[in-house]
Amino acid sequence: MSSTAIRIENVNKIYKARDGREVQALTNINLNVKKSEFISIIGPSGCGKSTLLRILASLDKPTNGVIDWENSADNIGFVFQDATLLPWKTVYQNVKFPLEVKKLATKENLANLDKLLELAGLKGFEKAYPRELSGGMKQRASIVRALSYNPDVLLMDEPFGALDALTRDKMGLELLRIWQETKKTILFVTHSIAESVFLSDRVIVMSPRPGKIDEIIDIDLPRPRTVDVKETPEFNQYVKKLREVLG
Ligand SMILES: Nc1ncnc2c1ncn2[C@@H]1O[C@H](COP(=O)(O)OP(=O)(O)OP(=O)(O)O)[C@@H](O)[C@H]1O
Ligand SMILES: [Mg+2]
Repeated sequence: MSSTAIRIENVNKIYKARDGREVQALTNINLNVKKSEFISIIGPSGCGKSTLLRILASLDKPTNGVIDWENSADNIGFVFQDATLLPWKTVYQNVKFPLEVKKLATKENLANLDKLLELAGLKGFEKAYPRELSGGMKQRASIVRALSYNPDVLLMDEPFGALDALTRDKMGLELLRIWQETKKTILFVTHSIAESVFLSDRVIVMSPRPGKIDEIIDIDLPRPRTVDVKETPEFNQYVKKLREVLG
C-alpha cells in the first residue's frame, strides 16, 4: 500500500555568499515520503524548510545528495511562503494561468477551478486584482492556483501563515478534505505545532545551523479528523512531545 513517492537521500545544501562565507542550510537530509502521505515540516526560522521545498520543486539544486521520484518530478504544485500572484492579472486569470501554460484548460478542469474558488471563499472576487485583496485572500488564491491542475504532490510553504486563526482552521479542514479525496502527497511547512499534529501522518522536526532533521514523529490519530480531536488527551500528548523536541 504505502509505496514511496519521493526518496530524499543525503541531501546537503551549502549557500556561498559573495564574500566567500558559507551557510550550511541542509545537512544530510534523508527521508522517504510515502505516496499519499501528509508530512509536516516544523522548526525554527532559518533551519532550511523553504530550502528543502525549493530543492524538491527543482527551483534550487542540492550541493550534493539525490532526490528520487517514483513518478515524474514535474507534476508538483507549489504554494510559496509569500503569495506570489501576478499583479497585472485578476484573481481568475492568476488561478487559471497554470492550466493555460500546461494547455490543460479543459471544460472539466475549469469547472473544477470554479469549485476550488468557491471552497476557498473567493467567489465574487474573480475579477479583483491582487492589490484589492487581503493577505489571507491572496494566500487562498495561490492555494487554488497550486491545486488547479490537480498535481500529485503538493509542496506548501507556510500557506496559512497570513490567515487569522479561524480561517486557518477552516483552511486546514478543507485541505484535509481535498487530500482525502484526491490522495495527494503533501509536504507542508508550518510554525504551528497544533496545526502540524492535526494535519499530518508524520511531523519532521528540524533544527537550524546546520539544518538537519532532529526527529520524526508519527501522528497516530484516527482519520478522518475533525476539530474535536484537538480536545483529546492523545492530541495534547503529541503537542507536548513536539514542544519538548523543539525546546
Ligand atoms: N538564496 C540564498 N542565498 C544564501 N543563503 C540562503 C539563501 N536562501 C536561504 N539561505 C540561508 O539558508 C538558511 C535556511 O533558509 P530557509 O529559507 O530555508 O529557512 P526556513 O527554515 O524556511 O526559515 P523561515 O521559517 O524563516 O521561513 C538560512 O540561514 C538562510 O539565510
Ligand atoms: Mg521559509
